[in-house]
Amino acid sequence: MSIKPIVAGNWKMNKTPSNSNLFISNIINILSDIKSVKVIVSPPFTSLSQLVVRAPIYTAAQNCHWEESGAFTGEISIPMLKDCGVEYVIIGHSERRHIFKESDKWINNKLKAILAGGLKPILCVGETLDQREKGQTDKVLFQQLTNALVSIEDLDDFIIAYEPVWAIGTGVNANVTQIENAHKTIKEIINQNINITNDMHILYGGSVNSNNAEDLISIPGVDGFLIGGASLDANSFASIVNIVEKNQEKQK
Ligand code: PGA
Repeated sequence: MSIKPIVAGNWKMNKTPSNSNLFISNIINILSDIKSVKVIVSPPFTSLSQLVVRAPIYTAAQNCHWEESGAFTGEISIPMLKDCGVEYVIIGHSERRHIFKESDKWINNKLKAILAGGLKPILCVGETLDQREKGQTDKVLFQQLTNALVSIEDLDDFIIAYEPVWAIGTGVNANVTQIENAHKTIKEIINQNINITNDMHILYGGSVNSNNAEDLISIPGVDGFLIGGASLDANSFASIVNIVEKNQEKQK
């Protein structure tokens, strides 16, 4: 893998601000020697404003609204996130799509607002089990990606997370062929639809842990991970980062 891989932890609705600080102070020490991996943590909004991070660790928000301000009770805007030192924003996570009924149109609005605000999107895509069993995976990926990218022609630094819905939080990760094919399909769709001026990362997400990370990072087309459950414990998250770092060093 020639680009620097990314290991991102999505904490979802977990950790108070004090627990978040504790995690960061532990992980900063454990990962002080990491050079070849970019590490991103995505805490809840309540933790973002007071987290002090430094390289190789960066922060992502788990969501955003596309308007800069206004009467949108419960929402958080891009300028608010930037003021907290956030660099990345996760959008289109399957929990947002399925539990909160976020539409492709909203995801497109968010993507445009993130880019206009100078932050970097982490766009999640992935099929449900039903869609996979009906042979619709490629079609779903095409629709989610092209709908998210409406009116966007150029992207500087694009991170996509392929997260099959049936693999998220279930302990069942997708197999090598499924992951390799989906990543290939995503790359083709992106290359046919927009111009990437810098790097494109396609991360895999769905039940990644310290036992399967070594096999998963070796799959062609996997440029890192988006991790839920296993990112909540500093030691387990750090061991995945170390596995990815070692794999990257091996390729040099
Ligand atoms: P998981 O979650 O690692 O717990 O499966 C992944 C995600 O939701 O991004």
